[in-house]
Amino acid sequence: MNTPIFFQLHQIDDQALAAEAAAGLQATPAHASPKFFYDPLGSRLFDTITELDEYYPTRTEAAIVAAHAPAIAQAVQALTGPHPVMVDLGAGNCAKAARLFAVLQPRRYVAVDISASFLQQALQGLQREHPAMDLAGVGLDFSSRLQLPADLVDGPALVFYPGSSIGNFAPDDALRLLRDARDLARGGGLLIGVDLVKPIALLEAAYDDALGVTAAFNLNLLKHLNRLLGADFDPRGWRHVALFNTGASRIEMHLEARAATTVRWPGGERHFAAGERLHTENSYKWTPDGFAALLRDAGFTRVQRWTDAQGWFGVFLAGG
Ligand code: AVI
Repeated sequence: MNTPIFFQLHQIDDQALAAEAAAGLQATPAHASPKFFYDPLGSRLFDTITELDEYYPTRTEAAIVAAHAPAIAQAVQALTGPHPVMVDLGAGNCAKAARLFAVLQPRRYVAVDISASFLQQALQGLQREHPAMDLAGVGLDFSSRLQLPADLVDGPALVFYPGSSIGNFAPDDALRLLRDARDLARGGGLLIGVDLVKPIALLEAAYDDALGVTAAFNLNLLKHLNRLLGADFDPRGWRHVALFNTGASRIEMHLEARAATTVRWPGGERHFAAGERLHTENSYKWTPDGFAALLRDAGFTRVQRWTDAQGWFGVFLAGG
């Protein structure tokens, strides 16, 4: 049986994160990166979001992939050849990629996530199920640059980026990431899930569910900032706001101060007037043609796509 190998390619630097959080709080308008959602509780709340009735993206993407798995695998192998290297961006528990192993039969699976140690358990479990497969876990914050050691990706690869996380990047940053993904695929392909434009009521409900799970996910960011910065946010003084900005084609999440308040931390403070907002996330929604054009701008020449019957979500395969 093989053994998974692990690389941590960037340092997780709490001081730099605290400085980034403080700068965002002191900016006008105040903002905090969505990466501050994902402390251990935030990650569990996100997993719960994916099970909510209102949050259609996860189950819709899974249904599209399940319904078209043989066609997707055939199209992937037309780009990569048989037994590709599969690189999974934001792999987490690796479950979405593992569902494709039977049809894709990768010879090597490279799971990329912010911390290699998060990947350990999942890869050890996968190795027991697939003893002959090469497995690697890479700790990398690819939001700034996506580059892997050349010997890990030693031929045409399938880069897999499910979950519509590309929607959390502004279009210019998304374009840069797609260009990096094309370079990384070394002449292979990119299989990517993308949430699509749809009626506003459906979009806003997906980000403001009846049980308040997304509100808790958003408010939990304040508790994370309290720990990171030593700040004194009281989550009860803030309201979750999710709205679709039609001009920018994005869901915006904010936290709105219920009353005037001053938040303090060692070395800084920020006054918020009643109703003033802290912007915590953008989730861009693409039209199918708009996203295909973005893939072409990134250098891909061959683009195929699969959607659900309602056209809510798209799975795109790009090559060339
Ligand atoms: C991770 N990402 C694709 C989610 C989204 O839909 O933009 C994050 C999320 N935010 C609120 N609900 C889910």
